[in-house]
Amino acid sequence: MIKYVQNLNNMKHFINLKDIPAKDLRKIISDAKRRKNKRKKMSTLEIDKGAPLKGKILIQMFEKASSRTRISFYLAIKQLGGGTLTLRSNELHLGQGGESIADTAKILSTYGDGFMLRTDSDQKIEDFKKYLSVPIINGLSPSSHPTQVLSDIFTVEEIMKEPISKLNVCWIGDTNNVLDSLIAASVKFSFKLSIGCPKKFEPGKEVRNWVKKNSRKIYIYNDPKKAVSGADVIFSDKVISLNDKVNKNKKIQQFKKFKIDNRLISFASKKSIFLHCLPRGDEVSDEVFLGKRSHVWQQALNRVHVQKSILLYCFGKLR
Ligand code: CP
Ligand code: NVA
Repeated sequence: MIKYVQNLNNMKHFINLKDIPAKDLRKIISDAKRRKNKRKKMSTLEIDKGAPLKGKILIQMFEKASSRTRISFYLAIKQLGGGTLTLRSNELHLGQGGESIADTAKILSTYGDGFMLRTDSDQKIEDFKKYLSVPIINGLSPSSHPTQVLSDIFTVEEIMKEPISKLNVCWIGDTNNVLDSLIAASVKFSFKLSIGCPKKFEPGKEVRNWVKKNSRKIYIYNDPKKAVSGADVIFSDKVISLNDKVNKNKKIQQFKKFKIDNRLISFASKKSIFLHCLPRGDEVSDEVFLGKRSHVWQQALNRVHVQKSILLYCFGKLR
């Protein structure tokens, strides 16, 4: 009961970038920058000064595969003095259909201090949110991958050494959860976003209207050269997302001319960088993915740093 009252006072959920004030997102990035700088000589599991999440446990549950998200959250909370418990949904009564979300949420709130969920259902996140008395973090859902994209904004600014609002950002690929969060970020951080994809896979009306309502614009092209022209940052992701229920071969064919190779990259700005959330498929050539413009490993590592600040934000401890 004491935890319930304490948490309600200052806890915050992290579900969708659209719903988080821009100044909070900027504060998370600044905190991550400070913390990363201070850790330069520290080893992986050494705890940050003050151990701000000492004694706290994050329960993370994956209904879909994950390598980076699960490991980076494990390291993130460890470095803040806390710990994680990682579950697969089929290990729970909930996953077997035997227990309600309401009761599961009460139990998670009784044992844990925070809950991270990767799921194929946005509704499930909302249902958990309703019954939890601890913060919930979206670790990837059909509509959003907010921890990934906030971390990517950090990576862009770290490499380019200027605010993302001054850069031309481009996405070549499918309209999916990562792009949805990138579109939300383009509004929150005021950067120009050009999207290159086949007509059939363009962002839908709902997201376009949301951008318009927020007095911003996204630029959509069905010609990858036009989308990439003058870009400072090129993002991509797999054409086939986890559990994408489409004719895979047909979709891959439809994206064929959107493959990111050196020829396509030559239309971007000279200083351009390439980022990819991983895992990768055939959407990018090895020469680009492993080439000098690619910063994908630094991008993956930065998830630890940014997620630490996301955790502090959710636990009401971001200073
Ligand atoms: N980028 C990302 O979320 O990777 P995982 O699916 O491995 O967690
Ligand atoms: N769009 C991808 C991202 C994986 C991190 C997916 O949902 O599978």
